[in-house]
Amino acid sequence: MTFTGHVFLGLSVDGFIARPDDDLGWLESRGAEAGDAGFTPFVASVDALLMGRGTYRVIAPSDGWPYQGRPVHVLSSTLAADADPRVTVHRTLDDAVAALEAAGYGRVYLDGGRLVRSMLARGRVQTLTLSRVPVLIGEGHTLFGPLPGDVDLEHVETTVLGGGMVQTTYRVREQGPATGDYDGHGRLPHRWHRTRRLLRARGPAGRRAHRPGAGAQ
Ligand SMILES: NC(=O)c1ccc[n+]([C@@H]2O[C@H](COP(=O)([O-])OP(=O)(O)OC[C@H]3O[C@@H](n4cnc5c(N)ncnc54)[C@H](OP(=O)(O)O)[C@@H]3O)[C@@H](O)[C@H]2O)c1
Repeated sequence: MTFTGHVFLGLSVDGFIARPDDDLGWLESRGAEAGDAGFTPFVASVDALLMGRGTYRVIAPSDGWPYQGRPVHVLSSTLAADADPRVTVHRTLDDAVAALEAAGYGRVYLDGGRLVRSMLARGRVQTLTLSRVPVLIGEGHTLFGPLPGDVDLEHVETTVLGGGMVQTTYRVREQGPATGDYDGHGRLPHRWHRTRRLLRARGPAGRRAHRPGAGAQ
C-alpha cells in the first residue's frame, strides 16, 4: 500500500517554524487564541507519524504527547534505536518510507522542516496545512529551501482563526520528472545540477521538449 503524506505546520509570516534555539513561544502565545486550530481532528485523520529527530528532540521531553496513540516514527542517524519506547527509529529516509509502506498505513503525518522538505522533493506529500501567525522572527528553522524542481500547489481553503492566524491548506499537484532524492539540508544531488545545466543550455525550446508529452507540440 502506498501512503500519502500530510503536513500541518505553524509558521511565522517570514516562514520559520522555530527559532534557532528551538523556541516556539512566539507561535504558542499567538496560536493560543486560535485554540486547537484543527490539530486534534488532523491527528485523528492520520494512521501514523514520521518526524525528523529535530522535532522529536523538542516534543519528547515536553508534558504532552499529542498523537492520540498513533505510531510515531523518527528519522535519525544519531538517536539510539531503543531511546524511547514510544517511537520507532529509522536511519535513512529510504528505510523509513519502506517501513511505513510495509505497515500498510494510508495517511501519514509528516513533521519537521528538513523531513518535510525531503518528502516534498520525493513527491511524497499530498497536502500541506500551513498556519501563519502574525509575527516576523527573522531567523530560525525553516520549511523552505532548495528543491529539485517546482512543487505546484492547488489552493484548497484558507481560514482566518483567532489571533490573526491564517490557515491555508494546499494540495500538491501531481509532480512531473522534477522529483528526486534530496537530503533536506541544502544539497541537491549532483544529477539535478547536471539536468539544470543541460536545460539551461537548451534554452526555452529545450525545456519545453523535456516535459512529458511536450514532444507532440
Ligand atoms: N512550528 C511548527 O509547527 C513545528 C513543527 C515541527 C517542528 N517544529 C520545530 O522545528 C524544529 C525541527 O525542524 P528541523 O527542520 O530543524 O528538523 P527535523 O526535520 O525535525 O529533523 C532533522 C533531523 O532529522 C533527521 N533527518 C531529517 N530529514 C532527513 C533526511 N532527508 N535525511 C537524513 N536525515 C534526516 C536528521 O537527524 P540526525 O541528525 O539524527 O541524523 C536531522 O538532523 C524544532 O525546533 C521543532 O520544534 C516546529
